[in-house]
Amino acid sequence: MRAPHHWWQTGTVYQIYPWSFQDSNDDGIGDLPGITSRLEYLEWLGVDAIWISPIFPSPMADFGYDVADYTGIDPRFGTMEDFDRLLAAAHAHGLKLVLDLVPNHTSDEHPWFRQARSARDNPYRDWYIWRDPAPDGGPPNNWLSHFGGPAWTLDPASGQYYLHLFDPKQPDLNWRNPAVRQAIYDVMRFWFRKGVDGFRVDVIWMLIKHPDLPDNPPDPNWTPAQPPQHRLLRIYDQHQPEVHAVIREMRAVADEFADRVLIGEIYKPVEELVTYYGANLDEVHLPFNFNLITLPEWSAAGVRDLVERYERALPPGAWPNWVLGNHDRPRIASRLGPALARIAQMLLLTLRGTPTLYYGDEIGMEDVPIPPERVVDPLGIRVPGYSRDPVRTPMQWDDSPGAGFTRGEPWLPLAADARQRNVAAQRADPHSMLSLVRHLLELRHASPALNAGSYRTVEVGNPHVFAYLRARGPEHLLVALNFADRPCRLDLRHVAAEGVIAVSTAMDRAGHIALTDLDLRPYEGLVIDLLTP
Ligand code: GLC
Repeated sequence: MRAPHHWWQTGTVYQIYPWSFQDSNDDGIGDLPGITSRLEYLEWLGVDAIWISPIFPSPMADFGYDVADYTGIDPRFGTMEDFDRLLAAAHAHGLKLVLDLVPNHTSDEHPWFRQARSARDNPYRDWYIWRDPAPDGGPPNNWLSHFGGPAWTLDPASGQYYLHLFDPKQPDLNWRNPAVRQAIYDVMRFWFRKGVDGFRVDVIWMLIKHPDLPDNPPDPNWTPAQPPQHRLLRIYDQHQPEVHAVIREMRAVADEFADRVLIGEIYKPVEELVTYYGANLDEVHLPFNFNLITLPEWSAAGVRDLVERYERALPPGAWPNWVLGNHDRPRIASRLGPALARIAQMLLLTLRGTPTLYYGDEIGMEDVPIPPERVVDPLGIRVPGYSRDPVRTPMQWDDSPGAGFTRGEPWLPLAADARQRNVAAQRADPHSMLSLVRHLLELRHASPALNAGSYRTVEVGNPHVFAYLRARGPEHLLVALNFADRPCRLDLRHVAAEGVIAVSTAMDRAGHIALTDLDLRPYEGLVIDLLTP
């Protein structure tokens, strides 16, 4: 008997951006009771876990990624009682609940930072990273904030600069200080004791900086067409060897509790990404694999190459995972267009490893253009053109004026197509994107080959088609994805003689199919249950 799998292996994670999922009190901002009221939908959809972006008290300089109290609930989202109800209800619906842990930085309004900035000899001073000005009075080194401008801000009262890899209102914690580590580990324990099933850990690969804080060298490939904060190679402010020891400590905290998960936010190519599983699989359970998001070209060959490189790079026993979208990156339907977006969902939900779905992608939501006067994202304000607001707009539930999200004025504009593209309309349409995603999730649940089976690329002799086999025990499934805008015919008799269509991206085909002349329509993907493998 093989060891049974954990929920975070066979299940699917659904990311909720709390500002935009469901408003329950008409203030135009999503909230916890709103999420609770939509758990039925999530159970119907067939996801297994929800990860909620930060819900903690915050001045919202970065929409919750600037935490002022790690063990509270921001009143915009509700109360701790609302949270307890949400957690209990999620569990009652068979859903796990994953919170966002933001350990790299706090809000400048967190009591720790208020103490730290109050005096150079305050015991909290060393909880953050302070340095004297350079001889010319400028910042101590050339590091840049991810949100544009220098990564240092002068604190005039004490005459020193503090480091912030993001907004000036997000001072970086000093993870070389053991007191900081213990404080965050206690935060983890607080939520674990409540019964939270895990954490998605924000920018985990940035926690430790080079001890000497050397200047970052220029990136020779940078061009002025790219945002200015990308002009340096980030070799000293992230991905330092000592970060692994910290992550091992975090993992040990998670391991004090039964069956919890740690998911690390890490933007790295697969070869470096996999180091975050830990040499003994003792770091994060799932280092988020964003390589489908960052893939420069979506082609059959490009995706195949990525999948194969990842499969090769994974250490023995490491569990893979795939992500197509999140609150920081353009939506998949906008990047690829509606037809390829269906291929992308079929890929996500049939590859080996845990899929993470971003809210709204199941109905093909697209980036919503935000008028300049309504831009609220700190990145978008500082670096015009790079706002993340377009990917964070309210969920489109129905064709009512507030799209079923709110009866008030939504905090970000609704998509212009919300009346047509919404959950209610797509639930009623058997060919919709929502029906496709739900069907794929249903299939994935029922199929050990999909949720726990092996992966093997299938040679198809056509450069526009990516095909693979997923198998476990007697079950063999073939996935064939046509990335081209023209039909094709494949001869896959070397794989099997015939099969039964389990799902097509168009949701309009079923029944037996011969693999000797397998016809795929433009941008069509098929999952085929092989009868005679
Ligand atoms: C992560 C979050 C992003 C946030 C940043 C700083 O990348 O996903 O939304 O702005 O960290 O916390």
